[in-house]
Parts: sequence; C-alpha cells; structure tokens
Amino acid sequence: MLENNINRKKQFFKKITMTYIGPDAILQKKREYLIPCVYHFYKKPMQIVRGEMQYLYDHTGKQYLDFYGGVSVMNAGHCNPEIVASICEQVKTLQHTTTIYLTQPIVDLAEKLAHITPGNLSRTFFCASGSEANEGAALLAQLYTNKHKFVAVQQGLHGRTKLTMNLTGISMWRTDPNPLNDIVHIPAAYCYRCDYGLTYPGCNLKCARRLEEVIKSGGFAAFIIEPIQGNGGIITPPPEYFKVVRKILDTYNVLFIADEVQTGFGRTGKMFATEHWDVVPDIMTVAKALANGTPIGAFITNNKIASCYTRPGASTMGGNPVSATAALTTISVIEKHHLVHRAQELGSYLREKLIGLRQKHKIIGDVRGKGLMTGAELVRENKIPATEELDNVLEQLKDRGILAGKTGISRNVLTFQPPLIITHNDIDQVSTALDEILS
Ligand SMILES: Cc1ncc(COP(=O)(O)O)c(C=O)c1O
Repeated sequence: MLENNINRKKQFFKKITMTYIGPDAILQKKREYLIPCVYHFYKKPMQIVRGEMQYLYDHTGKQYLDFYGGVSVMNAGHCNPEIVASICEQVKTLQHTTTIYLTQPIVDLAEKLAHITPGNLSRTFFCASGSEANEGAALLAQLYTNKHKFVAVQQGLHGRTKLTMNLTGISMWRTDPNPLNDIVHIPAAYCYRCDYGLTYPGCNLKCARRLEEVIKSGGFAAFIIEPIQGNGGIITPPPEYFKVVRKILDTYNVLFIADEVQTGFGRTGKMFATEHWDVVPDIMTVAKALANGTPIGAFITNNKIASCYTRPGASTMGGNPVSATAALTTISVIEKHHLVHRAQELGSYLREKLIGLRQKHKIIGDVRGKGLMTGAELVRENKIPATEELDNVLEQLKDRGILAGKTGISRNVLTFQPPLIITHNDIDQVSTALDEILS
C-alpha cells in the first residue's frame, strides 16, 4: 500500500516535470487567476521552461538567445552553475531566520558591497525588491534632511509601491488614482528629443539646471534618478550631467539617490553606472542583478547619513541567508570572469553594429547606452515613434529565436540587456537577424 502510494507520487512528479501545459493553457489560467495588470510580451507568446547561461528554452525545446536578461537581472547568465551550486548548498543548510538572529551571509554581503560601491558608501539595509529599496532610500533621505519633498525625472521608473510609483515619471506605470503631492518631475537628459528644443552641448545642460529652479523653493529631501533611465528608453545623460547635478544638490543640501536597480553590477561596463560620471551618490539603491534572479534589494549609504536611522527597521526576507549567499556568489562570478570589462567591450561592439544598421535603415533614429545596456529608438518620418513597427520587430526576432526588450515613453526603443557572458558571435547573430527583418 505504502509502496503503491510512493510509486504513484513518483509518477505524478515525473509527469508534471515532463509535461508542459503550453502557452494557451497558461494564458487561460492567467486570465482567470492573475490580476489583469500583469501583462506579457508577444502576440504569440511561448512557455519558457528552462534557462542555461545566455539561452532560454520553450516547451517545444526551441532555443532563444536572450538579449533582455529577465529585464537586466541575469548578468551572470541563466542558471549559472556556480551560483546555482551555492544557492543549493545554502538552501540545504539554512534557509531563513530573519535579522533577529545573527547569521553570516548578510554581514559578509554588506562588507562586500562596502568594498565595491564607489566612495564612502559603506552601510547597507537589505530588503526584497527594487521598489522596497527605493522606498527605504526615500525614507532615509527624509529622516536625514528633515524635509519631505522629492524631485525625479519624467522618464524615470522607481517601482510599484505608493511612493515609488509616484516617484516614477513614466505615465504608463503611474496607476495611482490618488497621486501624492510634493513630488516634482523634471525633464530627463533626453538629447534625441530635448524638452526644450535645444541641442547638446550648446544647451548648457538646461535640463540639469532645471533642478536648481525647482529645489531652490525649499523643502526637498532628495533627487532620485537612474544614471541611465532603463524603462524610459535607455536615456543616457551627457558627460557633464551628473557633475552639474551634484553641485546643485550640494548647494541646497538635497540628497542624491542613484537608482542603480537596472544599471548595477557591471551592466553598463562599470560595476555601478554613476562611476561613468565620476560622482558618488548619497544613497544608492540596488536589486535585480545583485543576486542574479534570487529576490533581493538594498539601499546603501555613508556613515553620516546611516547614523540618523536608529529606530527599529526590519525586512522579513531582507538579507535572507539564501539571497545573501546568491548575491555573494554572483559578485564573485562577476569579478572572477571579468564581466564588467566584458560588458564594456561587447557593448561597444553591439553599438557599432547598430550604428552600422542605422546607416542602412532609416527606422533606427538613435542608438544609445553604455556597456550592455543599449537601446535603438525606432522612428518614422519626423521622429514619430515607430511603436507598432517595434512590436513587429520583437515578434519576428522571437520567431527567429532571439529575445529583446522594448522601452521608452512610446514603447519604441528596441532594448538589449543580455547576460554579460554573451559572445561576439551572439551579437553578430542578433545584428544579422535585425538587418534581415528591417530589410
Ligand atoms: C530602475 C528601476 N528601479 C526600480 C524598479 C523596481 O524594482 P522591483 O520590480 O524589483 O520592485 C525597477 C523595475 O523594473 C527599475 O527598473
């Protein structure tokens, strides 16, 4: 009897691991059981069942070269064996305690972050997502400055909680029916479509200087910005931008929060993107790639700012032994395999290819980004956003076994944020496919 039961159980598990319900059944369940706000890519989506470094596989066994990396998460590749091994070992040993008990991975990770983050950033609070990290950073800025208002940029995305959704500038992600007051959005450094109709460098960075016009009225705790606005369309500010911003903020004692949730951990060809502009934020937020697919988030600050947050603060899952171990191994893989340098080198190669394609295909209006955070803005005549065309390109790339992303206010920026372990050949494959599709 007992043996029968065990056999039945074994067969059941074999069946569910071998049989996939397929995209139609998933869509049906999604319609029935998920809140409708959870949207997906593609007219004909596939069921993804397996990942291996730069590849994903669907239920039919078809291979996809993943150039979106789970939206800038899988920097060390899908199911990276070194990271998987360390996670499994930790899961088998100690999964969870919360911070009311002492465990080692959380402090080792905080120490490691203090070493790899720029300047005097040295104190970390761990949580479980990017939204939470930004929410915590905003609270810390209010505690430190005793001010309550924030400035953010129109093309920014900072999360899904009440406050971070309001800090977000992109209207499609601002669902809040009762928006918060006291958050001001300024134009981004979007040189391809300057809000002021100016041209860099003659513009004298009017977009950055707008910050001063806003904060001089007083009451601002912080300016929050992604160094490169990811979801906003890989908006990459010019070289002087953050130096100008830093000076203005220092003059008015307003804190600088750098949201490195998408840009962190080698993505842009530096460990953190703010390093490209040679500035040190007061608070940096991270998540996504930190643990290569294991949920984690964190905000990191300097001793002085950290010292104002002394009342109890706890995140049940923040710095959990499994996510902290995953993060420690992810950082060690990034360092050991020189993935930061790789992102820089391969990113330049990818942009070279895209710039070559721009000369041939008028639909590519602009190519921008740093490292392996690259976007190609698709436009019609007079820079009209080629939104439908982009959807077609994405669908056709997918049919050819290549996954890319879409970003931008008008969803017309073809976006590439692949795992940093990709090869030159992978880029050649993407560029050839794109050339053929656009032809
Ligand atoms: C720059 C940035 N900040 C914050 C978030 C929110 O992170 P999470 O989805 O982990 O809450 C995102 C999500 O895409 C993001 O791109």
